[in-house]
Amino acid sequence: MVPTRQISLGLAALAALAACKPAEMPGASEGRKLYVENCAMCHGPAGQGDGPFARGLNPAPKDLTLIRVRNDGAFPRARVLSTLDGYTRVDLPGEGMPEFGELLRGDLVPVDVGDGKPTPTPRKLAALLEYLESIQQ
Ligand code: HEC
Repeated sequence: MVPTRQISLGLAALAALAACKPAEMPGASEGRKLYVENCAMCHGPAGQGDGPFARGLNPAPKDLTLIRVRNDGAFPRARVLSTLDGYTRVDLPGEGMPEFGELLRGDLVPVDVGDGKPTPTPRKLAALLEYLESIQQ
């Protein structure tokens, strides 16, 4: 007969395994919410570079719906992701700036940045990438 203690340890291990299910991939709608909170003030509500803070900025914020067009018709996932990643790691000057470091917190999800290999990426950055890709003209 198996001692009860051993059975309950086995169940605890199973429960731990079940809790460790793979992260669900973030979608564009999750990214849209993050965009509105963190990016729209400069890049504009629809990404066209006309947010309320845009006027004072030099260089001006880019029209984010034209990234693919500016890149000869291919959305440069790797470059966009590293741009976003770069933003999250510098201190932007000025008051009332969003705390971009927040975008790096949370789960890592696998993102194919175009080389066919999954790159572990903070979930919120992956969601923003999906959103930006979804608004290309
Ligand atoms: C303080 C204003 C400001 C905020 C907030 C901001 N950006 Fe920008 N962004 C800029 C400016 C200005 C540029 C152009 C910089 C340059 O050309 O050197 C830029 C450039 C970019 C680019 C590069 C576009 C290209 O075609 O190369 C991407 C992508 C981008 N921003 C995405 C975002 C996202 C996503 C957010 C929110 C997480 C965000 N930005 C928040 C001002 C801002």
